[in-house]
Amino acid sequence: MTERIESAFDYHAAVSYRRGALGGGGLDWSMRPETDRRYEDCSTLALPEPLAEAGPSDPARLSALLAASCGVSAVARTPAGSFFYRSAPSAGALYPIELFLAGRPWGFEPGVYHYAPERHALQRLAPLASGRGLSLLLAAEFFRSGWKYRQRAYRYCLLDAGHVLENILCALDALGAARRSRLDFDDAAAARLCGLAPGRESALAWVAAGEDLPDELPEAAGTVPAGLPCAPRVGDLPLVQAADALCAEAAPGQGEASGPDVLSARAEDWIPLEPAAMPVGRDFFAAVIARRSRRDYRKALLAPADLGALAASLRLEDPLPELGAGVLLPGGGEIAAGLYALDAAGCRLGRLLEGVLHRCAAAACLDQGWLADAGALFVFAADLEALEARLGPRGYRHALIRAGRLGQRLYLAATARGLGACGIGAFYDDEAAALLGLRGGQRLLYLVAVGEITGSAG
Ligand SMILES: Cc1cc2nc3c(=O)[nH]c(=O)nc-3n(C[C@H](O)[C@H](O)[C@H](O)COP(=O)(O)O)c2cc1C
Repeated sequence: MTERIESAFDYHAAVSYRRGALGGGGLDWSMRPETDRRYEDCSTLALPEPLAEAGPSDPARLSALLAASCGVSAVARTPAGSFFYRSAPSAGALYPIELFLAGRPWGFEPGVYHYAPERHALQRLAPLASGRGLSLLLAAEFFRSGWKYRQRAYRYCLLDAGHVLENILCALDALGAARRSRLDFDDAAAARLCGLAPGRESALAWVAAGEDLPDELPEAAGTVPAGLPCAPRVGDLPLVQAADALCAEAAPGQGEASGPDVLSARAEDWIPLEPAAMPVGRDFFAAVIARRSRRDYRKALLAPADLGALAASLRLEDPLPELGAGVLLPGGGEIAAGLYALDAAGCRLGRLLEGVLHRCAAAACLDQGWLADAGALFVFAADLEALEARLGPRGYRHALIRAGRLGQRLYLAATARGLGACGIGAFYDDEAAALLGLRGGQRLLYLVAVGEITGSAG
């Protein structure tokens, strides 16, 4: 690929899928990345059984947090060995997001650690030079996803990071622990702290947790070791690297967002929904472990209470004004078929387009025909050019990570109500934009199907 990119929007456009131009080319299975990050030399500390009710500095409570964040929640036995599915979904089940702990992890010595989900263990990387409280850092290893998705992988790394981040935030709430998350921080300091390989890995989010929330990133004593390569030959992903380099500049906010998001701005009349709360406490832990991606939808309408609960789940305490949510409904009930803007705070739908659009949407999603049977197709869209004008390229990270967070909230709310959900990152970008009536720099970022399921394997 020879395109030069000068903005995050250029990146998004350059990796768009177009019908008939997907490039083909099979996967090189000899290069399949490992999902279990290993180190040359580090001590591995087993975590105890997760116990959400354990005391504040009990390692069983940390174990509950980590299991819910991105721990193993299902195992598939295949002729090639066991495959470990996790509590957060991931495009292609490639799991490019790594979780690091720094500071004073509950019940462990101060230091810098890596969480190894497949062994449910901590790998101790370095002692701590300075820092208080507990910091959790999410970093992406691009080639994990790039092996399959090539240059489009940055999108998936950001969406995947959003899913894991939301699990962490919900788990901390369920544990009654204070927390603060940041997407803007000193990237180079975070990379040093986690021992990340420049250009190939990048820190995307920082969560401070528990008592004594740190204002600054902790510092490791000495050099933090790098992980072993995830594949025999880790290829370059020039567009991913260029996009991440652009995003690494944490631009200061440039004023308030102007006006409503790309979908709400066009909505005409608004229909109120019945709000309901997200699963919390024990219900959260049950939902996050039971969650799976489901593709076995029953052609059925969503009950009004379910639609209200899903819409209400999209309310974030720190929304990004440019990121718009919407939903495609198949009609047949009280609400006509069509596309609606979704106002999560007001728990209401704003009419945008009438008509049965599910088949077109399924076609736009690389002809994943089963999507046409889902009770609702939620969409997240933003004007990427406007966002970049306000926040700089870093705004792109904010938008995709938030879209991932919202996707995770839908998965959790759906699972708690006995519904199925599936995130969809694969779509023909121009067809999806046309379907949603998006123009200029407005783009679909993510779609999540939700609906009644037949009960057969997802
Ligand atoms: C960002 C993202 C994009 C995804 N895109 C698709 C997709 O286009 N089609 C699909 O069938 N599943 C998609 N998935 C679902 C993954 O395939 C699924 O999460 C993964 O196989 C792990 O299975 P699990 O979610 O049941 O744990 C996506 C998931 C994420 C997080």
